[in-house]
Amino acid sequence: MSDAPIAIFDSGVGGLTVAAAIAKRLPNERLVYLGDTARLPYGTKSAETVTRYAVQATRALMRFEPKMIVIACNTASAVALPVLTAAYGSTPVVGVVEPGARAAVAASRGGTIAVIATEGTVRGGAYVRAIHALKPDAKVVQRACPLFVALAEEGWTDGPVPELAAEKYLKDIFASADSPDTLVLGCTHFPILVGPIAKAVGANVTLVDSAATTAREVETILDDRNLRRTGPNQKPTFLGTDAPERFARAGSLFLGSQIAPDQVELIDLAP
Ligand code: DGL
Repeated sequence: MSDAPIAIFDSGVGGLTVAAAIAKRLPNERLVYLGDTARLPYGTKSAETVTRYAVQATRALMRFEPKMIVIACNTASAVALPVLTAAYGSTPVVGVVEPGARAAVAASRGGTIAVIATEGTVRGGAYVRAIHALKPDAKVVQRACPLFVALAEEGWTDGPVPELAAEKYLKDIFASADSPDTLVLGCTHFPILVGPIAKAVGANVTLVDSAATTAREVETILDDRNLRRTGPNQKPTFLGTDAPERFARAGSLFLGSQIAPDQVELIDLAP
């Protein structure tokens, strides 16, 4: 079983930031990554639709007989984690919301935390619940920043356009004296916009992204179950539901290393 892969999925290629963090922390693990690029974004869709998509993605990944499933999508983690955990109980399922909340609570000095995410994640309030479960008196401010997803997909990660968007979305939250001291990047796409976001919120705010904490959680689960792989490194397997060229181009940005279009297998998730 320890030789089995870790299966990771996201609505698109943004979750490759989580895959990169897992690969860095656990270089011997085999990773299978599925990006549901045909149906991105999940962040604007209803909880029912996102849950259905997440179940279909997980079902497709089960053919690899994974030892763990990582929901590398905040929106899907926020709405579908309980359903997937119930359906695939014997295979551990890890989401990114709880690790992100834990990192935020650990980082916050004053207990006021801002969360930026998609509309779906904000609407569902999963981060607010996860932060309050750890720190009931925390003050949590949320803001949906859907345009960041498009900017990140487009590769517009610095310069005046993302800087203006970041200022427009965030300036007022961080304008007052008792403004948040910690900002959770509660969407897979936001870590690559860290430059403009940091500029808009100022140097005193700690930015937290769940990729590294999720990788640590994956490591803990593998260790607890004695499931670590010791074999030599292997290239990840990439699966997409649309346009392998675009997956490769945008995905390389998020992964931080080159993906070739012919490395991406096109699959159909329709039932
Ligand atoms: N992967 C999504 C998330 O982390 C962002 C992109 C989308 O809306 O599908 O919430």
